Amino acid sequence: MSKTILITGGAGFIGSHVVRLFVNKYPDYTIVNLDKLTYAGNLENLTDFEKADNYIFEKGDIVDKIFIAELFAKYQFDGVIHLAAESHVDRSITNPMEFIMTNVVGTVNLLNAAKNLWKGKEEGKLFYHVSTDEVYGSLGDTGLFLETTPYDPQSPYSSSKASSDHFVRAYGNTYGMPFVISNCSNNYGPNQFPEKLLPLFINNIRNGKALPVYGDGKFTRDWLYVVDHAIAIDKIYHNGKNGETYNIGGFNEWTNIDLIKVLCKQMDIALGNDEGTAEQLITYVKDRPGHDKRYAIDANKLKNELGWEPSLQFEEGLAKTIAWYLDNEEWMDNITSGDYQNYYKEQYS
Ligand code: NAD
Ligand code: TYD
Repeated sequence: MSKTILITGGAGFIGSHVVRLFVNKYPDYTIVNLDKLTYAGNLENLTDFEKADNYIFEKGDIVDKIFIAELFAKYQFDGVIHLAAESHVDRSITNPMEFIMTNVVGTVNLLNAAKNLWKGKEEGKLFYHVSTDEVYGSLGDTGLFLETTPYDPQSPYSSSKASSDHFVRAYGNTYGMPFVISNCSNNYGPNQFPEKLLPLFINNIRNGKALPVYGDGKFTRDWLYVVDHAIAIDKIYHNGKNGETYNIGGFNEWTNIDLIKVLCKQMDIALGNDEGTAEQLITYVKDRPGHDKRYAIDANKLKNELGWEPSLQFEEGLAKTIAWYLDNEEWMDNITSGDYQNYYKEQYS
């Protein structure tokens, strides 16, 4: 069946994988990718399908409500998959307002536009909000986040995402907006901007630069290969139940320092260096303020109800990821010139 779907943030890391999957898998759909092209948005992530007949790119800001209203009037969307966001915790600590504008105000603009377009014709429509496990806060040494875990966001980033989740549910409850929300753990893979742990460290190792480990390095995250997240989004978009929340995770917990040591070993092999070369770059630095100790996801609802499971083992996903960054050095060099250097100096000096 033909549909027109708006995907926001499709020039970013996860969004580009979601757009690729939908453009290739659903030739009958028209996929409109709306992205502001902030520092994190990159048209180079989209070159393999940018000329596809069922794909349209629109540059624009979700905070601009007139632009958004016009976009919905122009395309008459049947569905929205909303990924556009400011997404980096460290940046949210230095500039929370940017996060409130894009993540909260931008999301409410999209909800209003969808509400106005779909009023009285909600059947078959869907607003899918892509969110994070960070809304649940920080865990102790045990326990897992369930869909029913109370929200307890601790950083400006997670607070803005929690707020936008609440607005999506409120529009469902108040105006009958058909919606689903998914809360996913840390993603890794090709095309991630090198401010997040793995691409930053891969880039630093290849350049012989220090690896800045926050605090004691004993913080725990669950890691999922980005393509598996995109596959989960596809499943939830098509088979998820209206009004439901689905946790997505890799069943794959690592402390930062253990993960970094595995990365160092694989990088030594990939670069043909002596074992132990990359590990010598590990440098403990001042901790992130309010650093969440542990995130861990129970993704069994998604597994049991929709039959989704991660397809890759972590070591395999990491090897694919390293290979991609080393094969795409130009991609990395292009985005780490200019403004990136200023960001790096401010964050790590
Ligand atoms: P990203 O920072 O790589 O990409 C965000 C994209 O949104 C960029 O292309 C950017 O240009 C665009 N954007 C930012 N502000 C915009 C605005 N005002 N208007 C239009 N476009 C705008 O982020 P990501 O890591 O791909 O994350 C995508 C989504 O998934 C986010 O909503 C994030 O909260 C969520 N998420 C991310 C992770 C993760 O590990 N990266 C995990 C769980 C959930
Ligand atoms: P990050 O990739 O920023 O994701 P998030 O904060 O959303 O989990 O960081 C992952 C973990 O790595 C987190 O515990 C912070 C830590 N970290 C470092 O130790 N050093 C760094 O330079 C960065 C960017 C992150």
